[in-house]
Amino acid sequence: MTHRTMRDFLAALEKKGLLRRIARPVDRSWEPAALVKWMYQALPEEKRFGMFFEKVRGCEIPIVTAALGANTAAYATALGVEADGINDAWARACHNPIPPKVVDKAPCQEVVITGKDVRLSTLPIPVWTPGKDKGPYITTNTVTRDHDTGIQNMGVYRTMVRDETNLVSNLGPGRHGYLNTLTWTTKGKVAPIAWVIGAPPAVHLATVANLPYGADDIALAGGMMGEAVDMVKCRTVDLLVPADAEIIVEGEIHPGETDMEGPFGEFAGYMGPVDRRPVVRVTAITHRRNPIYYGYTSQMPPSESTTIQSLTNAGILLNNLRQNLGEISVTDVFIDQTFGGNLGHAIIAMKPGYPAHSKKVGRLVAAMSSVKRVTVVDEDVDIRDHTHIEWAMNSRYNPARDTLLIDDVYLRIDPSARSATSQSTMASKVVCDATLKVDAGTFSLPPREIMMKALDLWKEVGLPEFEIPKRAKLRIDRS
Ligand SMILES: Cc1cc2nc3c(=O)[nH]c(=O)nc-3n(C[C@H](O)[C@H](O)[C@H](O)COP(=O)(O)O)c2cc1C
Repeated sequence: MTHRTMRDFLAALEKKGLLRRIARPVDRSWEPAALVKWMYQALPEEKRFGMFFEKVRGCEIPIVTAALGANTAAYATALGVEADGINDAWARACHNPIPPKVVDKAPCQEVVITGKDVRLSTLPIPVWTPGKDKGPYITTNTVTRDHDTGIQNMGVYRTMVRDETNLVSNLGPGRHGYLNTLTWTTKGKVAPIAWVIGAPPAVHLATVANLPYGADDIALAGGMMGEAVDMVKCRTVDLLVPADAEIIVEGEIHPGETDMEGPFGEFAGYMGPVDRRPVVRVTAITHRRNPIYYGYTSQMPPSESTTIQSLTNAGILLNNLRQNLGEISVTDVFIDQTFGGNLGHAIIAMKPGYPAHSKKVGRLVAAMSSVKRVTVVDEDVDIRDHTHIEWAMNSRYNPARDTLLIDDVYLRIDPSARSATSQSTMASKVVCDATLKVDAGTFSLPPREIMMKALDLWKEVGLPEFEIPKRAKLRIDRS
């Protein structure tokens, strides 16, 4: 079962030992970020945890980070499924979206601060790359609305705190949030905008999905939760926000008002370029009584950002390939976390049905996602096992024959696209087809029945117990 509120989820996470509380007061200008960076840089995936900073110097509100994306187990807990059921859960949610329900009263409006009383420093907004970021950044879901259709969008766009009442948001070209704000500002109108901090976990995870423009992230979250997400009207702008959220920041973008945003540590692992972006005048802060501040950890991979982006987008990509493009031969998708979570390497498992089918699927994935490298393997490869993928690449991929290059890809965030000798910042993509093209014969392992008999012998002679890795199972099943 998924959780109705962030609080319920944090309690479930704590019970599983996946959340740690830090009781000593912390300085939000560097301590939470620096500690969480050590957590991601030093601990192996399975040992990571969410961090709950109970006391923040100079602020009444605690900070939580890394809880949704500490590791695959934490992410699965947020969705109320087992770790190996994540892709199936996204497929179910895509097939059964549930539109949101509008309510009048909301926990996220128990306290309402408007007008001259609004001060962003009352929120414990951390600095995420201490010593390098321009200032504190809000790292959570942003709500915007299309002026003409009335359809809302949610996406995560990092947002810089400029002063007590103004933000500068990284609403960049092509992003749906940006397109929505343009539908107002190009008509000379003020665009409404809001940030949702500490929403129900399914809302957080659905909003990072790369969906078509106009698709409803909240209906997807409802499909994941199996019930409608309650939404309430903001107090000062005409937008709906999740009623059970911890904190809402409401604001307005006035036509032509921009400022420089950044530098900020980006999720690809480098400090990002500084650009001119829309200024937001904050009109209200509303929150629960005793709220919790939730901020995503990003910057150098692996991070919370890479974890949630890779797991959500793998599930959505698999569903798009199977349901929307009819590629039911694709059985699994994995996106690695070494580069932004959605920008790196996608591994696709499939059962090719005709010559060059695997190349076609690889090309589709390159075109419909942000990933830079696509490797297609047969379904007898564990796509979450690096050594198994390497084996498939070495034994089934012939570079001169099985490589497709895709040029002229706009990916500003990819440092390899920059060149010392030209102004071009165009990146490129590669598809590697590592499926078997002809029968390579049987594996060099004893037949299955001998291997299984040997398991009994293993126990009999008192050797240490082990769990059969998926890689070994897949190989023995075909031996
Ligand atoms: C922590 C975090 C920070 C992100 N920051 C940005 C950002 O600043 N700008 C951006 O365009 N996308 C950012 N993303 C990715 C988008 O939120 C994501 O691709 C989302 O699907 C965009 O929504 P849209 O497709 O409706 O525009 C971030 C994601 C995460 C998890």
